[in-house]
Amino acid sequence: MSTRVNRRDDFPALRRQIDGQPMSYLDSAATSLKPDSVIRAVTEYYECNGSNIHRGKHRLSEEASDAYEASRVRIADHIGAAANEVVLLRNTSEALNLVASGLDLEPDASIVGCFDAHHSQLLPWRRAGRLEPTRVDRHGRLDRDHFRTLLRGNPRVVALTHCSNVTGVVHPVAELIAEVRAACDAIIVLDSAQFLPHERINVRELDADFVAFSMHKMLGPTGVGCLYGRAARLDALRPMVVGGGMVDWVDVERSVDRRIPYRFESGTPAIASIIGCAAAIDYLEALDQADRAAHERELCAALVSGALARPGIKLIGPPETTDRIALATLSLGEAVPTGEVARLLSDSYGYMVRSGHMCAQPLVTWLAGGETLRVSAYLYNEVAEIDGFYAALDELLALLGPATLVSGARR
Ligand code: ALA
Repeated sequence: MSTRVNRRDDFPALRRQIDGQPMSYLDSAATSLKPDSVIRAVTEYYECNGSNIHRGKHRLSEEASDAYEASRVRIADHIGAAANEVVLLRNTSEALNLVASGLDLEPDASIVGCFDAHHSQLLPWRRAGRLEPTRVDRHGRLDRDHFRTLLRGNPRVVALTHCSNVTGVVHPVAELIAEVRAACDAIIVLDSAQFLPHERINVRELDADFVAFSMHKMLGPTGVGCLYGRAARLDALRPMVVGGGMVDWVDVERSVDRRIPYRFESGTPAIASIIGCAAAIDYLEALDQADRAAHERELCAALVSGALARPGIKLIGPPETTDRIALATLSLGEAVPTGEVARLLSDSYGYMVRSGHMCAQPLVTWLAGGETLRVSAYLYNEVAEIDGFYAALDELLALLGPATLVSGARR
């Protein structure tokens, strides 16, 4: 019998009921819920301080600046980086745009990407140079031979997906990075937004040049994304946004940028949210990591086996439960109005899941041919919720069956 602590109680949003039913949040790949400790840290900042950072000599500003920088140190420690190598931004999209625009590549610069890239790792690189995505197979695993072939073209940048937000596949990034290092001197940019909420990384051991992730997907407040950059690489990057707070000196003609990471943090940042991130890291690091990993494996097994047990549903992703996170994207078939199903699951059963193309439309179109339903679990979910979700989906599909055939025929 499991002795695991039920963490649901730490997350006040889970006390909500939807029309008298308990609420089940299965959309953590979009953003995670926040524990009491994170909410308290944000509230405390507003109740006891509320001032701006790095701009005043008064007591409140100095306290806020200290708390803000303490969060940066906490995030940096969590990934094995130095504090000046962590830029605090709004989200992963902003982090990846900063790198793609700041490298000042030639318009025809060769960039190797991944076909399962989220739009935030696809569109900035498509704009920055000549992007060639590495193929994936029908289960979303990277085609290693194709990757090696593309590396022989001596790319300037290799933009890797650490873990797909559609298939849940965790790519063998340590091996991929070693292959890049052996083949060429490309700059390696890793999108770890979906991986880092589930498992810690050490950026030094990984040997990537840049790593982007979002604190809001790992218990932190919304509005916080991070960019790790090896110090020398960050130093060579052109700031994307210029303005207040990122300069040391401005006269009528010239300005002198501040050192890294401050030159990339123009304007007043999301102070309260960033302060709350330290509490998120505290929460994650205090967990028993073996227990957490075992729990994740159980959730993943329930998600995958539930999909595979239903012949009418196609699992978009591998049938295995290794090297993947607790996430299942489902294709319900052309005739089923997936968005309506998501709404009914929410309003009639209390299950919050995401529907659509998951901001990875080329991949979802290729693998599923249309909209999908994504169920993503996190450390506050239980296997019983996943079983309940599938039971609700069965009931809904049975109810909708004749209606969807009619509306399908009308289209
Ligand atoms: N990237 C987030 C998702 O996959 C928003 O839902």
